[in-house]
Amino acid sequence: MHDIIRQLADKRGAACLGGGQKRIDSQHAKGKLSARERIELLLDNGSFEEWDMFKEHRCTDFGMAEQSVPGDGVVTGYGTINGRLMFVFSQDFTVFGGSLSESHAEKICKLMDHAMKVGAPLIGLNDSGGARIQEGVASLGGYADVFQRNVMASGVIPQISLIMGPCAGGAVYSPAMTDFIFMVKDSSYMFVTGPEVVKTVTHEDVTAEELGGAVSHTSKSGVADLAFENDVEALMILRRFVGFLPGNNREKPPLLPAQDPAERLDFSLDTLVPDNPNKPYDIKELILKVVDDGDFFELQPDYAKNIVVGFGRMDGSPVGMVANQPLVMAGCLDIKSSIKAARFVRFCDSFNIPVVTFVDVPGFMPGTAQEYGGIIKHGAKLLYAYAECTVPKITVITRKAYGGAYDVMSSKHLRGDVNFAWPSAEIAVMGPKGAVEIIFREEKGDPEKLAQREAEYKAKFANPFVAGARGFIDDVIMPNETRKRICRSLAMLRDKKLENPWRKHGNIPL
Ligand code: HXC
Repeated sequence: MHDIIRQLADKRGAACLGGGQKRIDSQHAKGKLSARERIELLLDNGSFEEWDMFKEHRCTDFGMAEQSVPGDGVVTGYGTINGRLMFVFSQDFTVFGGSLSESHAEKICKLMDHAMKVGAPLIGLNDSGGARIQEGVASLGGYADVFQRNVMASGVIPQISLIMGPCAGGAVYSPAMTDFIFMVKDSSYMFVTGPEVVKTVTHEDVTAEELGGAVSHTSKSGVADLAFENDVEALMILRRFVGFLPGNNREKPPLLPAQDPAERLDFSLDTLVPDNPNKPYDIKELILKVVDDGDFFELQPDYAKNIVVGFGRMDGSPVGMVANQPLVMAGCLDIKSSIKAARFVRFCDSFNIPVVTFVDVPGFMPGTAQEYGGIIKHGAKLLYAYAECTVPKITVITRKAYGGAYDVMSSKHLRGDVNFAWPSAEIAVMGPKGAVEIIFREEKGDPEKLAQREAEYKAKFANPFVAGARGFIDDVIMPNETRKRICRSLAMLRDKKLENPWRKHGNIPL
């Protein structure tokens, strides 16, 4: 008995030491925490239950039989964040560079299967050199087993990837299929092929950081949602982030008792929209003044800045916020912003999170770059996402709602539940200037007449009442009461039931 207990202690000790103190020190020297330190920081104190600590690889090639570390380069298990159940895997770079062997993959798959069974989020802390080279196809199979589970779990449990080290080759595709990707600046990167291959194939000189670092992926490619300064910041913010999400698609998101009165008015909003319709203003000011305690968790803040997406709470309940940003490209919808918002709306819809949309949009971005890039198809993604969405949808038009973009941005026609407009709203096919230049083309030589026509068009359409007269707008509200009216609407919609017709799946324009 004593013997087996000593063996247990030895094995635990070996597992906890991973690839050895020297490699742990080297991890620390790079500013990275170890796999276990990360889990400790992420989960509530003492809540972690580890599984498969004794699992080892089965490879015998290339001298691998003599090199085995209990746990095989990934720490897996479950624990709680603020008392809520979470499943976590954390790759250990000190063991064969955190590379994925068949056994390593089996550990992750077991975790995913359990997370699905009990309906709790899966958090992956990725720090890996990719497929375990010594194992060949066995490791590729392991990746595919994880991919398949990622897809089956999509829309059933939230899946979050935190990239805290290298993530190369096909390994990027598991995070890519999760709902959110967060990265750590200067120590993490994601790419399909590294700088050397890039140099050979395209003759480009590029560093790993430029090619796939946190800044590149949060500002250029849009692959990642947020970039953090270091491991500790990333883990602390991840703890806060999961507070907005339900455990699974059959639960409502967690309610946090609100201190901020639901009926709070904010008179400063009455002067937010400038008198001059061509002058921009910051839509984030509206979001911050409307959500509980000014607490807004923005996603992709440095990508497609012409649209703002993120989570907040209204009277304690999480909501997804989508808002055109007049400060950037006048809030136009283009390819990137359509994709960004569409994916966000679909996440909210999958997980019972109501969507609040603030509209100030002059239309879709014109031009060859957009047309050749496929704005028709990509813009349709946002249209599709709003149209299929069955969670409560509240829309507030603050100023412009022109053309197709009016339809797309959670309009009444796409089953918007409550559609408000501020008195400054202008709902029309296009702006007055563009409109008269088309319908009164023959008067182009007469600027005075054209100005008069523009004034006529403006008086007729640059207001919320034409849409109101048709019931496309439920009410014209004062900006100061926006929070109150949204909170009341969300309370009214709490038990909303709406189902789309049965089908295998829709065919969103990808
Ligand atoms: C086995 C690996 C490994 C791997 C790293 N190691 N990657 N062992 N399989 N894929 C080992 C190293 O031998 C080393 O062992 C230790 O991990 C640390 O690696 P270093 O190179 O010393 O660290 P660093 O300088 O920080 O560089 C990290 C790295 C580099 C950039 C990740 O190791 C690297 O390029 N690795 C190979 C990446 C790769 O090509 N992976 C396959 C991708 S293809 P010792 O004993 O010295 O500590 C793929 C296909 C997936 O993933 C397909 C899915 C569809």
